[in-house]
Amino acid sequence: MSSRPLPPGSRLRQVQSQVDELDRQLAAVAAELARLAGSVETLHGELSRVGPSIHANLDALRAELAQVAPSLHANLDALRAELAQVAPSLHANLDSLRGELSQVSPSLHANLDDLRAAVAQLRAETEGFRAETGQLLDTRSAPGVSRAMTRPLAGEMVPRLITVDVALDAVAPGWRDYVEEYTSVAEELSARYRTATLPLPTEYAIEALTSRLLYVVVRTLRPETVLESGVANGHSTFLLLTALERNGSGRLHSTDIRDDVGGLLDARRRSLWSLHRVPLTGSRDAFSALVAALPPIDLFLHDSDHSYGWQRFEFQCIAEHLAPGGLIVSDDADATYAFLDHCELSGRPPLLVHDGRKILGLVQPQPA
Ligand SMILES: C[S@@+](CC[C@H](N)C(=O)[O-])C[C@H]1O[C@@H](n2cnc3c(N)ncnc32)[C@H](O)[C@@H]1O
Repeated sequence: MSSRPLPPGSRLRQVQSQVDELDRQLAAVAAELARLAGSVETLHGELSRVGPSIHANLDALRAELAQVAPSLHANLDALRAELAQVAPSLHANLDSLRGELSQVSPSLHANLDDLRAAVAQLRAETEGFRAETGQLLDTRSAPGVSRAMTRPLAGEMVPRLITVDVALDAVAPGWRDYVEEYTSVAEELSARYRTATLPLPTEYAIEALTSRLLYVVVRTLRPETVLESGVANGHSTFLLLTALERNGSGRLHSTDIRDDVGGLLDARRRSLWSLHRVPLTGSRDAFSALVAALPPIDLFLHDSDHSYGWQRFEFQCIAEHLAPGGLIVSDDADATYAFLDHCELSGRPPLLVHDGRKILGLVQPQPA
């Protein structure tokens, strides 16, 4: 029987399409259920396949444990027995060590007392020596000595340090006349630091005591030919040139491997100055040639390359061209053994002064 088509938009037609949709969803759910049933079947099969072997493994493990458990217990008992055996002898050893210690401790104490007495005696002798000479620097109160000792050689030099005033008395008696003048020069230099353009680190500069020493030495000794190695921003150069200018005569020659040095110097000072650029390769030849071309040198300041080889080379080269009574001053004399070795070879005692982070060395190869 053919059914009559339902009129579009009728209530019956709407219900019919909802029923059709439900039928489709029911069919999909039935298909999913059938698929799940298949998976459950497969899992059952798998389980029944591996189940027996899991049980068997569990049984084998149980059997193994039952086998080794007695021997584990036996080992534990043996260890306990051994410990019980050695414990008394350990205690005995400990007691005998204690006995020995109590026997030797009085003599250790006595030795310690002897050492204390020896130190006290040495201290008293040192104090006496200080009082007698009045020359050695009191290194216990000198600020910065411990910092200088970060250089191993500085530590070695500490017992030989003298004060800067004692060094000046030795090389330039009369230096005190220029101390006040130096104060105003130092102020002028500080002002230059505030205005000049300085390409190099300011820590390169010589330190406070060395600055004062150089200025008053040049004013007192009135050298005609001064040579310095190592200019950087020109701190030492400024002081040497100012002292020469006030002396009214003398010339400063400086060496450096760089071109951009001397930032602290103004045009007036530069007119008294000869800067010699030494090349990095062949610098020994260039330095020797310069020194040979100069008149005898009255004052030399080393502040360039502080390696042992270069320091020794400079000192040796200068010593051969030093004017009678000429003076060698070395910044960073504690950087290597070069300064001490040079003094020892030339048979002249080094004068060593502690300044801030390093030690300054002075030596006068022949007295004036
Ligand atoms: C410690 S700074 C000098 C500081 C300077 N005397 C002062 O008081 O401001 C060292 C300088 O030595 C220079 N220098 C390094 N090796 C050198 C060498 N073989 N000859 C000359 N100068 C050298 C460096 O370029 C640097 O400018």
